[in-house]
Amino acid sequence: MSSLSSRIDATNIDPIIPTLGGTNSVQCVYSNTRRKKDKTCNIFTFLSTLLFFAATTTVGASPSSIPPPPPQQQQQSTNDPTTTQPQDCGLYLAPSTIPGAGLGVFAGNKPYKKGDRLAPPDLMIPAYDMTWHNDDKGYHFLWDEYTWSTTMFPDMEDDIEDPFEQSSIISSGFGAAINCMLPLVNVADHESDGYGDGYQLTTSGVSSQSPGAGAFTPMTGRIFVASKDIEPFSELYADYGEGYFSGRSSYDSVPLFDDYEKADKLIGQYMKRLKAMKSNASIKEDLELVDLLNTTEFENDIWNFMIETRSIWRKSRLLHALPGPNMSIPELENLMEFGGTGMQHYNSSIKSQEWMEEHGQCMDNIHDGVSNIPHAGRGAFASKFIPEGGLVSPAPLIHIPDRKILRVYEDHDHPETPHHHQLLLNYCFGHAESTLLLCPYGLLNFLINHDAKNPNTKIQWSKKHRHPEWFNQPISEWGHSYHNGLSFDFVALRDINPGEEITIDYGEEWEAAWQEHVKQFDNPRPKYIPAFELNKMDDLIIPTCFEVDYQFENVLMFCRQHFFPTAFEVKPYRFGFEEEEDYGEYYLCRAFSRNETSRTYTVEVIERENCANKGNYEVVVKTYKDTPKLILFDIPRDAFFFRDIPYTRDHHQFWSFRHDMRIPNDMFPDIWKTDDVVGDI
Ligand SMILES: *[C@@H]1O[C@H](CO)[C@@H](O)[C@H](O)[C@H]1NC(C)=O
Ligand SMILES: *[C@@H]1O[C@H](CO)[C@@H](O)[C@H](O)[C@H]1NC(C)=O
Ligand SMILES: *[C@@H]1O[C@H](CO)[C@@H](O)[C@H](O)[C@H]1NC(C)=O
Ligand SMILES: *[C@@H]1O[C@H](CO)[C@@H](O)[C@H](O)[C@H]1NC(C)=O
Ligand SMILES: *[C@@H]1O[C@H](CO)[C@@H](O)[C@H](O)[C@H]1NC(C)=O
Repeated sequence: MSSLSSRIDATNIDPIIPTLGGTNSVQCVYSNTRRKKDKTCNIFTFLSTLLFFAATTTVGASPSSIPPPPPQQQQQSTNDPTTTQPQDCGLYLAPSTIPGAGLGVFAGNKPYKKGDRLAPPDLMIPAYDMTWHNDDKGYHFLWDEYTWSTTMFPDMEDDIEDPFEQSSIISSGFGAAINCMLPLVNVADHESDGYGDGYQLTTSGVSSQSPGAGAFTPMTGRIFVASKDIEPFSELYADYGEGYFSGRSSYDSVPLFDDYEKADKLIGQYMKRLKAMKSNASIKEDLELVDLLNTTEFENDIWNFMIETRSIWRKSRLLHALPGPNMSIPELENLMEFGGTGMQHYNSSIKSQEWMEEHGQCMDNIHDGVSNIPHAGRGAFASKFIPEGGLVSPAPLIHIPDRKILRVYEDHDHPETPHHHQLLLNYCFGHAESTLLLCPYGLLNFLINHDAKNPNTKIQWSKKHRHPEWFNQPISEWGHSYHNGLSFDFVALRDINPGEEITIDYGEEWEAAWQEHVKQFDNPRPKYIPAFELNKMDDLIIPTCFEVDYQFENVLMFCRQHFFPTAFEVKPYRFGFEEEEDYGEYYLCRAFSRNETSRTYTVEVIERENCANKGNYEVVVKTYKDTPKLILFDIPRDAFFFRDIPYTRDHHQFWSFRHDMRIPNDMFPDIWKTDDVVGDI
């Protein structure tokens, strides 16, 4: 079966327009009577207090010490096919030039021009309401260091109730792998930095009526571009936003933009003073002093005296913006001419080809596309010939010591029997006898699909682990480390030709669980179409409110303000966290009658007040008050658009498939097996 055969053809959906018309007029309250305002309708006010949290977050430079080089690494670089580099590689994964930051992403052997696209699009996986589902207990989630604020992604608005708290977006590829050094940022987010359309919602041909519905994220298309010209083999840095560093105590000494400015001023003053001292001494003809002052040694000493105070005032971002040690006046002058303290690491952020061939792994052997596998959504495909045993893709691993934190509940009454699991589970590897999950990031690794019979790729432990000693330690000893330490390589089992889909075997347990899911699947939402699909259907016929089933399931319908008469007074519908200027678009409306000939509608614009209490799943039943406000005539299809009601997309449905991929038993160290494995997955 081709994956497309399960797609709903938009023009063939007729059940939505029912044949029984005219009886169900209850919802068409055709009057202008204002209802009394309910004083409890203030659900959105709490949001303003959370706005401070809007700073973007992510990935990272981990605070800890520089990793010891893995012992195996030095000896065998040239013969190891997972290290030997193909001639042409656009992006490398290699140890970051930021001390202690672990791995970073580097430009390949060709330069990039400002505006060039750097990597294939990232999938974005929501991790929603983590705190609530963990019963408001503290929990360890290393992904928090690698995730981005949901507020960056407009499409997340319709995914969850409260994007400010507890929820984040895992930008699984480039977005998780790239580091941030603020003054050297050379990468921009294509959409949020104004380069044009980026993110999109798509289920890639897997309809909500497929057993694959909700088993993968519909959010994709996050693209990164060069924000300036980039030389070959330069480390790439994205802007995490200063909030990332100011909000984490472990980054107390990471300089922010104005610390570099202050440091430049400080150096200017310092050089001026030192020169003045010298010239005063020579004016006074104090030759001994002149000799003392006029040596590189003295310059170094006095400079070191200043920057060594860093170890006393550890948390001074300013002191950490100063270069050194052993900076002499000519060196400082050179740095100031070169662009100031912000540029001090520029030269060391560019590596040689030899260094890259020894330490780097090529990241761009695969590209994304729609999978050939039914129900699978997107997939990864070879971009070049990959020989048997060759590296398909490097995959650093984020560890989750206890998979229970991915549990999702409807209520907290029975914490041992969760209703569902976070979507992230499907993107992680586990083992039946361990609570450990290892989730790969790196370009497109999240897209590699399952083939039980004839996979062309397998996972194997990388030779480039940051913490090879973890293999000999129980999870309890390293599972709460705040940086990642292990890596897989995806390695070709046979020669793979360009364009072939990359597949691995997710393991027997996964296969059995999937087969069972397919067997049990009884198409629980036969008519459901998510808003992002409805919006793409130009020929969609909008039912009127006199028709049965006139509302599309789990979506809200809006009319664009553009089609309104100029004078009107209606409160726009307020989604959780939109900026003031965006409100204009969101007017709830419903079709009152339809002219079949002209395909236009008479429309009622309504105001809705949401009288529910705040809550995630606790308040399932919500009451709304709809007050008709305005009638519009001759409104075309273009005027309507849809948005998903939070928690209604397929991946929120408790029936959607969840299972971790499995690490083969012979790869899995016995010492990582735990006896508190629970049977819920
Ligand atoms: C240099 O001499 C002038 C005049 O004697 C004095 O005002 C100034 O403070 C001296 N500067 C330094 C750096 O010693
Ligand atoms: C300092 O030393 C340099 C070279 O070492 C010399 O050219 C310069 O004249 C000296 N300046 C003074 C004030 O002695
Ligand atoms: C600074 O210079 C001194 C003397 O030249 C040298 O012994 C020392 O190792 C240098 N320090 C660093 C960190 O390079
Ligand atoms: C960086 O390298 C360039 C070219 O090699 C050199 O001109 C420049 O002075 C260097 N910058 C610093 C701060 O060392
Ligand atoms: C429907 O639209 C057509 C074309 O604009 C128009 O001629 C016709 O009068 C309309 N019908 C009604 C019932 O308004």
